[in-house]
Amino acid sequence: MSVSNATPPGRPGAWPVRVGWLVLTLLCLGVAAYSARYLLDPPRTPAEALGNPMGIPWLVIHVAGAMTALAVGSVQFLPRFRRGARPPHRWTGRVYVVGCLVGGAAALVLASGSFAGPIATVGFSSLGLLWIGVTVLGWRAAVQGRLVDHRRWMIRSWALTLAAVTLRLYLPLVMIMDLPFVPWYRAISFLCWVPNLIAAEFWLRRHRT
Ligand code: HEM
Repeated sequence: MSVSNATPPGRPGAWPVRVGWLVLTLLCLGVAAYSARYLLDPPRTPAEALGNPMGIPWLVIHVAGAMTALAVGSVQFLPRFRRGARPPHRWTGRVYVVGCLVGGAAALVLASGSFAGPIATVGFSSLGLLWIGVTVLGWRAAVQGRLVDHRRWMIRSWALTLAAVTLRLYLPLVMIMDLPFVPWYRAISFLCWVPNLIAAEFWLRRHRT
């Protein structure tokens, strides 16, 4: 994946961009580390797997792929990762794509068994399909040397990966505000990714080249 001439998101020297990247990276690493509990102590009963009948073994497969994508996604935007004859970006990029595909495919299976019913199934399945789709388009653009397209698709892909972070920001709010959990969980199956994608589109409109 050669991306040496892809433009980093925003002016590299702009400090708000750097601070935003750092905050998102820390949130990603926090969610990835917290999710590792499913790998260290895998669920043995459906109840331990969120009451999801597909949870064993798909939750562990989902978490393994998705946390990999979450852990390496943000470093893909570092210009220094794209320099040199063999830029690390190429290898971490492959790891990211495999993580998204494994995490996304398992997410589709999990979505079909969500305890919150068909609305959550539609919300999470749409996210899973889009996540796989835009990541494959970004990977294909890189392989074909269409680096501006690669950058644009991968910004969309990362915005969708960040659904894992936004979901875990909303859920505590629902609990703190003592809102009814299941209806809000259904809403969050959309709210965790639709605003992210809209924000990415606004960003891409402002930074066309
Ligand atoms: C972006 C596409 C993603 C989709 C479509 C998706 C979908 C799902 C679904 C359907 C479930 C089961 C929920 C239920 O049964 O109601 C789930 C659970 C879970 N997912 Fe994802 N997910 C995505 C990204 C991620 C990422 C990037 C991570 C990061 C590690 C992650 C970590 C988890 C964890 C830890 C659970 C268990 C629930 C919890 O402890 O909060 N997911 N996901």
